[in-house]
Formats: sequence, structure tokens, C-alpha cells
Amino acid sequence: MQTIHPDVERIIISEDDIRAISSRLGAEISADYADKNPLLVAVLRGAVVFMADLMRSITCPISIDFMATSSYGSGTTSSGTVRILKDLETNIRDRHVIIAEDILDSGLTLSNLIGMLNSRGPASIEVCAFAVKDIDGYTPPVTPKYVGCHVPNEFIVGYGLDYAERYRNLPYVGVLKPEVYS
Ligand code: IMP
Ligand code: MG
Repeated sequence: MQTIHPDVERIIISEDDIRAISSRLGAEISADYADKNPLLVAVLRGAVVFMADLMRSITCPISIDFMATSSYGSGTTSSGTVRILKDLETNIRDRHVIIAEDILDSGLTLSNLIGMLNSRGPASIEVCAFAVKDIDGYTPPVTPKYVGCHVPNEFIVGYGLDYAERYRNLPYVGVLKPEVYS
């Protein structure tokens, strides 16, 4: 039985679920990119935990790289305007790029990022999102090719996801108690 952090209301993605998700996505990517030597890109810091699991479940040759972006504004909603804090070290011209994302919420951060990376002439860019937030009546500007799971429109933490830089180290994903952030 998983012990639950006192600030977490309930666990929505368990450690077992997480293992199943990364092995399924790893198998899909391995099949699709067998001879393509894709570059797996994680956006710091949230996607680091997912990236670490995902890359170990991929069986074809890959490279990895990291970016750091900052969306203006803080707290529990995203403004979508992206600033590059740390750029890739890899030249992505003619490379097959897979962006590993922790969570697709509004999708604004990611769509900005994809626009920037597309201008560098990659062979392809796809998104592998650990979680997609289902928001009633909203269609995000980005459709990930690979989706780990769908989560309700609540603020979640753990498995890389933070609130004010906390809770990233929880090994599961849980809904943060609203009284923690309100
Ligand atoms: P978007 O631009 O609205 O899609 O926001 C994407 C980024 O916001 C993610 O990569 C996360 O870092 C952060 N984010 C969005 N929703 C949550 C959440 O429920 N918990 C923690 N971080 C979140
Ligand atoms: Mg964050």
C-alpha cells in the first residue's frame, strides 16, 4: 500500500500505472523509429523523471538532449509565452525529434516550442506526453502522437510535476489538496 503525502488528496496514477505507461510508449516509439536514431528532447525540469523512464524502455538507438523554457507567470496556470533559458546542444537539422513532455495542459508552451524548433529544419517533430489534461470544450493547439494517460482538469503533482518546485520527487501522480495553493 502506497503511503500518501499529506498535501495530496488522492493518487490518480500509481507507480504500477507509471511503469505500464512508459513501457507501452517505449515499445511504440521503438517500433516507429527503429532506423531513425531520434533525438529525445525533455523540457526541464518537469519532464526529467518521465524522460528517464521512457528512454530506458526504448530499444532502438536514440540520443537525448534537454531544454529549459520559462513561461511568463507563475502559480497554477500557464501564460503560454515561452522564453528559452537553456537551448539544445544538438543541431536538429534533418533529425527526427521527439519531445518528451510531462503534461499537456493548455498546450501553449508546447506549441510555441514546436514553432521555434520547426524553424531549425528537423526531419520531423512529434510529442510524447506522459499526461494530457482533459479540459471540457477545449482542443489544445498540439496533438501528441504518443499519450501516456488522460488526467482530469485538476492541479496534479508528482513524477516530475511540481507546485512551487515542490513534490517533483513523489513517485506517483496525485491531486494536490486545493487548500495547499489557495
Ligand atoms: P501548458 O502550456 O498549459 O500546456 O502548460 C504546460 C506546463 O505547465 C507543463 O509542462 C507543466 O510544467 C505545467 N503544468 C500544467 N498543468 C500542471 C499540473 O496540473 N501540475 C503541475 N504542473 C502543471
Ligand atoms: Mg512546472
